[in-house]
Amino acid sequence: MTDIGPSAAGARGQTRPDDWAPIMFASPDVCEADVDAVTRVLRSGWLTTGSECQRLEEDLAHYLGSGHVIGVSSCTAALEICLAHLALPPGARVGVPAWTFVSTALAVVHNNLQPVLLDVEPDTLNLSASALERALAGGLDAVIAVHFGGVPVSKAIHDLCATAGVPLIEDAAHALGASDHRGPVGGPGTSAACFSFYATKNLTSAEGGAIATDDQDLADFARSYRLHGMSADALTRYRPGGSVGYDLVSPGIKANLPDVLAALARSQLTRFAAMQDRRRQIMERYREATGSSGIEFVPTVDAPNSADHLVVVLLPEGVDRDCVIEGLKATGIQPSIHFRPLHHFGWFADHAEEGLGGLPVCDATAMRALSLPMHVGLSNDDVDRVCWSLLGLLHA
Ligand SMILES: Cc1ncc(COP(=O)(O)O)c(C=O)c1O
Repeated sequence: MTDIGPSAAGARGQTRPDDWAPIMFASPDVCEADVDAVTRVLRSGWLTTGSECQRLEEDLAHYLGSGHVIGVSSCTAALEICLAHLALPPGARVGVPAWTFVSTALAVVHNNLQPVLLDVEPDTLNLSASALERALAGGLDAVIAVHFGGVPVSKAIHDLCATAGVPLIEDAAHALGASDHRGPVGGPGTSAACFSFYATKNLTSAEGGAIATDDQDLADFARSYRLHGMSADALTRYRPGGSVGYDLVSPGIKANLPDVLAALARSQLTRFAAMQDRRRQIMERYREATGSSGIEFVPTVDAPNSADHLVVVLLPEGVDRDCVIEGLKATGIQPSIHFRPLHHFGWFADHAEEGLGGLPVCDATAMRALSLPMHVGLSNDDVDRVCWSLLGLLHA
């Protein structure tokens, strides 16, 4: 493919690109009930972390079947807190897939620990069991596994960490709504699952996240650590008759989830099943609309229990991804990239360690992966238009 013009998809019978409404990469689904829920909190006289956050934690614990859920300001903060709870010595080595967002590994760095970048499976782009096995043999003190795009990592990852006695933290930023051999992701068997409620996620609070864990000690630690390490939260201290004093029990961070934001997440949770159904339909529509064109989706294997967070395609070898991106943008379609492997960023190239065996799958896939629009506001026609545009560009 050489020259890609904005009219390529138009050749497939659509109206002129100039007439097309933009198709956003991601767009939050905010309904009137969400607005009412947030407004109720705004009028309540209590904005920061309080009873609404507590109720969200209870609702999520019920949904996930988790012993404890702690609302926090982001998934990044959730990961930082879970790593801090491990109390590893400075420089301890934490295995992280190189195919992830930068914050997975930055949470390691911010705890004065050493990220060890590991390769991924070619079919899911999830942490590779063989890369993890090699790294565990070489010595790891903890592992963070990312459920990429909402597809849970394989049971082998859990088994390898359990056999080695190494704590496993789940980066479940994409995985609310996913399930695996344990039931919903966020269930038992790991230190914790860390969720993101960022504006592009399947369920959003604008900014926010949660730790789901069965570990009572981690839950107690997280409730305090998210509030500087204080022994009492604001609700306890400021409510009528509350005790004004507090101690500082650990050098924590400021990462609590305010009630205003929790209200949005809690309202979304009441219709989350329907939102997930629509995501699944959109995913199926993408696969149908590209039919036998040879477009490869990630995962390349069936993933019936995925949270369907991302629609990632692998462009054929040799296709200029930048041209495809510009071509889609010219027809009003906004794509994205998940992810640029961590060792391709300057800072990680200089400071992170690569696991034994290197990162060949990440390197081979880095320039081929392209994320197509995915959000519940997409119509079937939108999905068809994205597919036609993409196929038009690839066959131009
Ligand atoms: C895999 C992964 N982990 C962590 C995060 C960080 O989430 P947050 O923005 O809630 O900190 C993201 C954000 O998109 C992500 O994609």
